Amino acid sequence: MGQGKKLFIKTYGCQMNVYDSERMAEAMGTRDYALTDRPDDADMILLNTCHIREKAAEKVYSELGRMKALKVGRPDLKIGVAGCVAQAEGAEIMRRAPMVDLVVGPQSYHRLPAMSDALARGERALDTDFPEEDKFAHLAARPKAQRAPSAFLTVQEGCDKFCAFCVVPYTRGAEVSRPAARIIEEARDLVERGVREITLLGQNVNAYHGHDGGLAGLIRDLAGIDGLARIRYTTSHPNDMDDALIAAHGEVEQLMPYLHLPVQSGSDKVLKAMNRKHTAESYLRLIERIRAMRPDILFSGDFIVGFPGEDEADFDATMDLVRAVHYGQCYSFKYSTRPGTPAAERPQVDEDAKADRLKRLQSLLGEQQRASQDAMIGREVGVLFEKPGRRAGQMGGKSDHLHAVHVQADVAPGTLSRVRITGSAANSLSGELI
Ligand code: 5AD
Ligand code: SF4
Repeated sequence: MGQGKKLFIKTYGCQMNVYDSERMAEAMGTRDYALTDRPDDADMILLNTCHIREKAAEKVYSELGRMKALKVGRPDLKIGVAGCVAQAEGAEIMRRAPMVDLVVGPQSYHRLPAMSDALARGERALDTDFPEEDKFAHLAARPKAQRAPSAFLTVQEGCDKFCAFCVVPYTRGAEVSRPAARIIEEARDLVERGVREITLLGQNVNAYHGHDGGLAGLIRDLAGIDGLARIRYTTSHPNDMDDALIAAHGEVEQLMPYLHLPVQSGSDKVLKAMNRKHTAESYLRLIERIRAMRPDILFSGDFIVGFPGEDEADFDATMDLVRAVHYGQCYSFKYSTRPGTPAAERPQVDEDAKADRLKRLQSLLGEQQRASQDAMIGREVGVLFEKPGRRAGQMGGKSDHLHAVHVQADVAPGTLSRVRITGSAANSLSGELI
């Protein structure tokens, strides 16, 4: 090996960023960088950033402020910004933060090693192109190390939907699907290295079209891989839940009974203003159809309160929709203006009203989460064990329904066991091996 440099990556935002951070670390492995979990020990620090809401982007700037101090004592330390803030504000970051050596957008990670060569020559490097070439085809081959039981695999990137609140079509570009053959090859390799559960990722994962049979076709092929016990996918748009995918939920044993299906609002007026291109009614019908295929499926969702134009009656419609669905778990946010998106220019809802609605919504969602967890007590579920729990002798993992579950037993990571659920706490379940 060469001089053995150290790379620290801090990942913000969604699971796609988690996957990208892994791939960037592997790419930098070709330049003799190994990962460290200590920034003060690193030769290079990469912030893999998120631009989805104002707060997420602000965090990056305050983190950069802190890093300035690190760099004072160590002029050789290289600092890079990757991810969606890099894509949205790359040139601006270079201009305003001279301590940043490198800015790389999400579509250019395969160029990272060459960019780091430029840094070694004392240059600064910026790349926020949307290159023609497929970054995944040009990224470093994945190393052969043993892996944790659960892995992410990005199959699709970008978005053509243009919801009026969202930066993703601008930061991640147009929808692109990876060819099925490459995904299957990567999945086989993951399974050979100990992976038993794969979560397929995409900003619009169910719009995947790299397989003749769409996402359902890909899932059926992946289900044929020996040793791959569980398949999940996220995040989906309601309008892309086609018949084949709905049928797969009833037919593919490895496809887990949990689906993240964001709706954002329960008011047709707001949904229209958001450019969602579906109604509350069509979403509820879709939920019914999926439940008909897989009665025990748990749904999760995303909600935005205080979108421009939302009034109390619209908010009540959201509460009604939540009551009709009974979610297992949800994410909810106050609308946050994102420069360059259509809704940013519209008259805004008062901050206090947003805060009040968020509180009411989260209280209802919290009740539903508790109810869905409590309903598991006494049931027998599959659990894929991943790592020791916080208490001595405890082992933790995820249930088929994606609940965190822990048992008081000595089980090896990667074991898939049947567990009887005996208790429910704030964000996890406890149980006994059967
Ligand atoms: N403000 C608040 N929440 C947002 N989301 C996306 N854009 C915004 C925004 N401008 C939420 C949506 C989406 C999730 C990933 O983040 O609910 O589904
Ligand atoms: Fe954040 Fe969206 Fe980028 Fe993921 S894709 S990091 S959620 S802005």
